[in-house]
Amino acid sequence: MASAPGPPLDFAHRYGPWAVVLGASHGIGAAFADELARRGLGVVMVARPDDGLAEAAAAVRAAHGTAVEPVEVDLTADDAIAAVAAVTADLDVGFLACVAGGTESVGRFLDHPVARAEALVALNCLAPVRACHHFAPRFVARGRGGICTVSSLAGMFGSDGTVVYSAAKAFDLVLAQGLWAELAPRGVDVLGLVLGNVRTPTLLASGARFDPDAFPGLEPDAVAREALDHLGAEPVRVVGEETRAIHDLLRGLPTRAGIEALSAGMRAQYGWEPPGP
Ligand SMILES: NC(=O)c1ccc[n+]([C@@H]2O[C@H](COP(=O)([O-])OP(=O)(O)OC[C@H]3O[C@@H](n4cnc5c(N)ncnc54)[C@H](OP(=O)(O)O)[C@@H]3O)[C@@H](O)[C@H]2O)c1
Repeated sequence: MASAPGPPLDFAHRYGPWAVVLGASHGIGAAFADELARRGLGVVMVARPDDGLAEAAAAVRAAHGTAVEPVEVDLTADDAIAAVAAVTADLDVGFLACVAGGTESVGRFLDHPVARAEALVALNCLAPVRACHHFAPRFVARGRGGICTVSSLAGMFGSDGTVVYSAAKAFDLVLAQGLWAELAPRGVDVLGLVLGNVRTPTLLASGARFDPDAFPGLEPDAVAREALDHLGAEPVRVVGEETRAIHDLLRGLPTRAGIEALSAGMRAQYGWEPPGP
């Protein structure tokens, strides 16, 4: 097994020597890769073939001097996790972050081909399931390791305009909760993250509006730090104070009011209106 260089930190011992980050070329996944490397782990950084991945990998390597393996894979492909498994076969992986996800944009469920919904499910749901099923047995065998999935306030209720995205984010959270129940007694720390607005290139390019006073959003590196600081402490972490405040408000709502609140929030954020009946 190849081992990654780095200081003998407790964190690195528990979750290293290697981590795999799905969706690591920019935004939250890149921040995870950077923070994991800062904590002494080698990082396998997965994203679609693009110059951005090589640049992100070079930046992590230069900043921390740790081993970094960029892996170019489209995670919506059926054989994507098999490809990641092949590349990591000789690496002692102790941590998995399933970050890649997101929605292409708001839009009504019936106004798009079903292939768009299927791609969202493949990226947000199938890839994490397959990756967890592949890597978790190694963590169980070692009696230590960690997994993060990434959910969203958008997964707390269904919403018009983001029907499948919201459903997929609910899936990611419940997946983490179930894995936590099964794996915590076997030494594996599973954490489902609930995020509000995070100022990633994807979100900033999506046309989402921010109210800098009410809900400015978090920076990706703050998300990665808070997530990794809370591994092992609890099954779910709602990240950031403002996200926790909104989460608490939404959690108190009856289902119908929650759906209406999320739908209104999504329309306001994207300046989107359902185009008639
Ligand atoms: N940003 C927010 O405000 C926010 C809020 C709540 C939850 N989240 C969740 O946080 C996660 C990360 O979101 P993000 O805003 O950082 O951006 P993102 O668009 O999900 O991109 C994150 C990473 O995923 C990679 N990726 C996207 N599609 C891929 C595919 N088909 N195959 C392989 N890699 C792929 C991207 O790289 P390439 O494009 O180079 O492949 C990028 O490295 C998602 O799960 C999202 O649902 C984000």
